[in-house]
Amino acid sequence: MTRSFEKVGVVGLGTMGAGIAEVFARAGLRVIGVEADPDALGRGRDNLENSTGRALAKGRLSEAERAEILGRITLTTSREDLADADLVIEAIPEVMDFKRALFTDLDRICKPSAVLATNTSSLSVTEIAATTGRPGRVVGMHFFNPAPVMRLVEVVHTVVTEDGLAEEIAALARRLGKTPVSVGDRAGFVVNRLLLTYLNHAAVLLENGLATRDGIDAAMKLGVGVPMGPFALLDLIGLDTSYEVMCVLFQETRDRRHAPAPILRELVTAGLLGRKTGAGFYDGQAVATPPASGKPTVSSVAVLGEGAREFAARLGDAGFRTTALETVTAGEAEDTLERAVETADVVIALSHTPVIELAARLPHPRRLVGLHLVGDRLAEVASTVLTSPEATCAVEGLTKIVGRVPVHCKDRAEFVVDALLYPYLNDAVRMYDSGYAGIEDIDAAMRLGCGYPAGPFEMIDALGLETVRDGLRALYTEYRDPAFAPAPLLDQLVTAGVRSIRGLS
Ligand code: 3HC
Repeated sequence: MTRSFEKVGVVGLGTMGAGIAEVFARAGLRVIGVEADPDALGRGRDNLENSTGRALAKGRLSEAERAEILGRITLTTSREDLADADLVIEAIPEVMDFKRALFTDLDRICKPSAVLATNTSSLSVTEIAATTGRPGRVVGMHFFNPAPVMRLVEVVHTVVTEDGLAEEIAALARRLGKTPVSVGDRAGFVVNRLLLTYLNHAAVLLENGLATRDGIDAAMKLGVGVPMGPFALLDLIGLDTSYEVMCVLFQETRDRRHAPAPILRELVTAGLLGRKTGAGFYDGQAVATPPASGKPTVSSVAVLGEGAREFAARLGDAGFRTTALETVTAGEAEDTLERAVETADVVIALSHTPVIELAARLPHPRRLVGLHLVGDRLAEVASTVLTSPEATCAVEGLTKIVGRVPVHCKDRAEFVVDALLYPYLNDAVRMYDSGYAGIEDIDAAMRLGCGYPAGPFEMIDALGLETVRDGLRALYTEYRDPAFAPAPLLDQLVTAGVRSIRGLS
């Protein structure tokens, strides 16, 4: 018999809970929103009013529709009011003891046929289910922030979930206008396991001083096309939630890549949790735009590496004296190289790999700056330990002249974008290869859960399997982190000459 879900309880009306309550009410279901005390309930009401108020201001809702949506939501501080709900979903803090106590209570209060769902980001649904007398009717229903906007719902089933229930919950998600992806009970499910690992990696690179917060955020937005940079997104998700997810992932995998970046712990301990407290990686103020720098004070530029002629021609059009040398391999005669750079005020090495070796071959290594052009808009500007600040500054100015946004970074393998992107793609390949989720589901989850322009497998195909594999090898050689070693499946596909990883699905 197919259940009908008409009355839904939502426990916890923080950012996610309020968003989830709104989603159900918008789809015409009656909602009982529960909070622990009157103050928290007041904040929950504010969350609901702000979110629907925003839609009203944007002309997406009329006053009458807004009133109708809010009218479907009853707010209470008494869990006993959930007695006749068909489904109860919790969105309380990510602490297993709190969740277990809540589910024990819900099991007592709710009618036997009711389904109990958790919006947990990473905790074990099986463990939560086991605290109830109805483990077969406990599932995960994982929404994404902002819940009214993001289209994905991960439907998490356990080994004891009743037959057919996951499909019924998936159908309910569709009724809410969402796209369900059905997954098993593994820490982080699909999205958080991939997303939070990448966000944590960004925090580690920030701590290592690879680039600045704004530089990394800009690089990922411009270079990959993601809607938010990693630090803006960590602030949106909440640094406490992000830290907790990483702890759970690390607990399960003991993988160094899942160890929470110390800066997360520090910010959380300081009470800087991101948007919900008004400050996190960002302080809540609008990010100041740096003043536009004037024309660089250099007049002659040498450009080395693949694409040097074209880049030099663009600088030539802008009035600079240029020389270009396309091949700078080890075999290149030193005198050819020296001739190309001898009169240049600054030397640009177009490269996606560190340029320190090249710098060491030049008569004036202080003038050499690495430049990695990513897509149409971004230029990663890499200075070595020998590069002078003046040369870096000049090259940043030159990249602006050719219409790109410069992001300054250290001279490290794969610089910023690829150093963050390739390990994320590698993680997706490992996830698929482990049998946990299919290629299409993983792609859909990342597109719909995070607003990415493409899923990881679509990205791998677009970049080329060999490029990604070789980038991972370079990262592994640089950082010696086993997580960066190319997934055996990726390696084998390259060896076999396979061009599309999506062809496996
Ligand atoms: N509540 C309701 N609606 C909101 C909203 C909110 N908090 N924030 C934005 N919106 C709506 C706007 O009203 C607008 O709707 P419209 O197109 O109908 O007018 C639309 O979303 C776009 O908003 P904006 O134009 O203001 O802003 P952006 O275009 O910059 O988009 C964004 C904002 C949707 C947040 C976008 O930046 C994005 O997709 N970011 C990625 C978010 C993400 O990755 N979420 C997943 C996090 S992981 C997670 O939640 C799991 C957890 O377990 C950790």
